Amino acid sequence: MRAVQIHQYGGTETLKLEQIDKPTINDDDILIQVKAASINPVDWKIREGYLKDFIPYALPITLGWDVSGIVTQVGSNVSQFSVGDEVFSRPDIARDGSYADYIAVKADEAVLKSTKLDFVQAAALPLAGITAWQCLVDIANIQTGQRVLIHAGAGGVGHLAIQIAKAKGATVVATASSANLELLTQFGADEAIDYAKAPLNKQISPVDVVLDTMGGEVQQLSWSLLKPNGMMVSVVEPPSEETAKEHNVQAAFVFIQPSARILTELNKLVEADQLRPFIEHRFPLENIADAHLQSQSGRTRGKIAIEVS
Ligand SMILES: NC(=O)c1ccc[n+]([C@@H]2O[C@H](COP(=O)([O-])OP(=O)(O)OC[C@H]3O[C@@H](n4cnc5c(N)ncnc54)[C@H](OP(=O)(O)O)[C@@H]3O)[C@@H](O)[C@H]2O)c1
Repeated sequence: MRAVQIHQYGGTETLKLEQIDKPTINDDDILIQVKAASINPVDWKIREGYLKDFIPYALPITLGWDVSGIVTQVGSNVSQFSVGDEVFSRPDIARDGSYADYIAVKADEAVLKSTKLDFVQAAALPLAGITAWQCLVDIANIQTGQRVLIHAGAGGVGHLAIQIAKAKGATVVATASSANLELLTQFGADEAIDYAKAPLNKQISPVDVVLDTMGGEVQQLSWSLLKPNGMMVSVVEPPSEETAKEHNVQAAFVFIQPSARILTELNKLVEADQLRPFIEHRFPLENIADAHLQSQSGRTRGKIAIEVS
């Protein structure tokens, strides 16, 4: 089968489209014929070697940790899926990924995809959608009527987070550059904030929850935007407990884990027409390097999809 692998860490030149053996499955796995994958910043961060101390891969490895496709084989312990099922998953990041014709995935990391999503849309949802749900629902426990600030609302995590927060009844404030303000409103944001126009504290009245998808200065500027007892949840930089205490707020860092439970919740929102991934770019597997460069630009609106078969 075809797979895009890296044999060493580095730039996009390390992405090699190769012929390798189909994965063999364990008793708890399913084998998925990949229809589509999608790009997340973690893909190129791993390729560059930024995470090598955190996840010690034995190279070569196939990148890509979003997948939709068709089940072609089930392990002996698997009862919830049959050959022919249409599924989607954010598989274990320690195993070979989805830039390939086939991927072996633990059955309890996959879910039947909603028929309201095509394969490309289904592949755009898992990693970014699970991340947004874990932050806003599992950790921050957002409630109807709360004000939630979502940084980078036009990006992969942000545009799904806006929709999830709206579905939970929150008032959503989201940030983007001026070119993307209209898009924020289309995703459902109540207040679309141009982060370059004026300091955030001059534009945003206090919020209950901040979803920090940027870290650094953006995180630092966000502490003062929180109401007392509010919560800062970051996916890029562990927020300082000390600073949280100074502002009388809570802080959390999230590193996404696979979750069929959350995929099921995302499916329900899709079925209720409350959640839809936005896909700005589609690339064939052969052009994966261009897809990585697009993601690395930091300017992606919604998601970048990889059409595999
Ligand atoms: N910890 C975890 O488990 C986890 C999970 C998922 C993602 N992440 C991390 O979270 C980050 C975001 O991921 P993503 O997939 O959403 O990335 P992404 O899709 O590449 O984000 C791109 C977006 O960022 C926006 N942006 C850039 N600078 C901004 C700023 N100063 N303020 C507000 N928006 C800004 C851009 O909008 P404009 O062009 O309008 O500026 C663009 O739409 C990445 O670092 C990723 O690695 C972590």
